[in-house]
Amino acid sequence: MSGHEFTSYFPNSGGIDLDDQSTNIDDKTIEELEQLASRYPQARSALLPMLHLVQSVDGRISPRGIEVCADILGITTAQVSGVATFYTMYKRRPGGRHHIGVCTTALCAVMGGDVLLERMEHKLGIHDGETTPDGTFSLDRIECNAACDFAPIMTVNWEFMDNMTPERADELIDELAAGQEVHSTRGARITSWREAERVIAGFPDGRADEGPAAGDPSVLGLRIAQEHGWHAPDPAAIPAPAEEESK
Ligand code: FES
Repeated sequence: MSGHEFTSYFPNSGGIDLDDQSTNIDDKTIEELEQLASRYPQARSALLPMLHLVQSVDGRISPRGIEVCADILGITTAQVSGVATFYTMYKRRPGGRHHIGVCTTALCAVMGGDVLLERMEHKLGIHDGETTPDGTFSLDRIECNAACDFAPIMTVNWEFMDNMTPERADELIDELAAGQEVHSTRGARITSWREAERVIAGFPDGRADEGPAAGDPSVLGLRIAQEHGWHAPDPAAIPAPAEEESK
């Protein structure tokens, strides 16, 4: 190795796979990417949703997707690539039909998140960050999804699966593998990761109102407050900071 060569300590964290030039991006995709760019006062702000749309079409962040986003936004491919490789929701290799996320942040970990992740690795025969050889499932360890009141949680294509147990997680994988209809415990019917990516990009599929608006644990405090007649103080009756100081 020459003295000028860079060695990564994260061998699997490379950039976009430039060897795979395949793409499904067509004129309609380009039109939709332009539409996203036009939704923002600064077109460049649209890059994140645009990359989600690229994933919905190509199943990953493809070299062609990077070029098209750069062209539309008038920025360099290096700038697009820098964003695409920074966020973990963007995949550099083709994702599976279903994306399985297992939260192992503090509260979910205390409630069994690590056990769930191990169970899923064993069940799917892959490690965190990998996709099954048949392309059905991708598995990721995820950070807190603001659903701690339902810990431990998993996600399927970013829809919540609350209060999971290892047994229920196994059943969930079996149901998805068999193509059965599966509903999020607090959201829409499960479609596919690519379809979910299109929704995240900003093209609704009409399912946003499926499932309960808020789960019971999330509104427990509100219910207790209502039972006791508690309510927030009237903002008009709260002295401004300056008045406070002058007292
Ligand atoms: S720690 Fe898992 S959702 Fe918050």
